[in-house]
Amino acid sequence: MEKKNIDWSNLGFAYMQTDMRYVSNYKDGAWDEGALTSDANIVLNECACVLQYAQTCFEGLKAYTTEDGHIVTFRPDLNAKRMADSAARLEMPVFPEDRFVEAVHKVVEANAAYVPPYGSGATLYIRPYMFGSNAVIGVKPADEYQFRVFTTPVGPYFKGGAKPITIRVCDYDRAAPHGTGHVKAGLNYAMSLYAIVDAHQKGYDENMYLDAATRTKVEETGGANFIFITKDNTVVTPKSGTILPSITRRSLLYVAEKYLGLKTEEREVYLDEVKDFAECGLCGTAAVISPVGKIVDHDKEICFPSGMEKMGPTIQKLYDTLTGIQMGHIEAPEGWIHTIC
Ligand code: PLP
Ligand code: COI
Repeated sequence: MEKKNIDWSNLGFAYMQTDMRYVSNYKDGAWDEGALTSDANIVLNECACVLQYAQTCFEGLKAYTTEDGHIVTFRPDLNAKRMADSAARLEMPVFPEDRFVEAVHKVVEANAAYVPPYGSGATLYIRPYMFGSNAVIGVKPADEYQFRVFTTPVGPYFKGGAKPITIRVCDYDRAAPHGTGHVKAGLNYAMSLYAIVDAHQKGYDENMYLDAATRTKVEETGGANFIFITKDNTVVTPKSGTILPSITRRSLLYVAEKYLGLKTEEREVYLDEVKDFAECGLCGTAAVISPVGKIVDHDKEICFPSGMEKMGPTIQKLYDTLTGIQMGHIEAPEGWIHTIC
């Protein structure tokens, strides 16, 4: 298979249309058999539930080219499970988890020419999503749904790649107690748009959201979980019922303990204690691990000892081990790597 003529090393995190996508429709209480299509457009009724009441959820995972030339995905079963949880919370029918993994497989295989080569620094981002598609005017769930998966080749989420970023403590909230912060609902991202535009206008790369109830605890950013390293080298991640259960974060905690022999703690993290950490990073599929050099909390600045030039040493080790597993030069735990071809 011949690769597309793309400048892989200079890709940003942006949409590029690829050849094929997967579509399955839900009607009369059942999903149809689904199929690949070359049509990237969707025609919807003006009153579709997704357009009026934002009944939609999504997932994000990546396909990688390994050192020995295979194309693989990373723990797609966990994305399938999380999408099932999101769908249930939004009163949508669950797309069967085995069919989710199969759909991802088919779309990546059909777009193999767009999977960036090993060593290019780019990956193929995979976006499964579903939405209520029939007309609904009273506030209630749709009866008909569409599940789709498309792919797009991407580079780093933050400009500058692995350079430390600057974030600010945000005065807006992302998720409420008993709300939808723990699922991947489109609405969680719609309500973060005002805050991210404002952050960018003021020169920050991202927002640090606090818990809405007390505004004393660290939650996450708009698109990634936090990971902190203490001065005695323990990996700490915030525990909260209102953040997205990041697959990258769960994988990193395992890697920290089992591959690097580090102590880990998943616990509430108070904003007051952040100044005492040695390193900070954002972790997620898109973010991979993006180091944070500085956090601005209104008139106070927290500058991590790891600085603004490069990743701190422990985050670097976590990054190298995780990406080493994804790219196939470090042996993966059983079941983590799904080989496409
Ligand atoms: N938190 C939010 C709000 C996200 O959008 C994402 C991205 O999916 C993450 C965390 C990281 O999750 P994952 O590691 O599963 O990609
Ligand atoms: C991801 O990392 O997959 C995300 O969904 C984050 C962002 C692109 C929304």
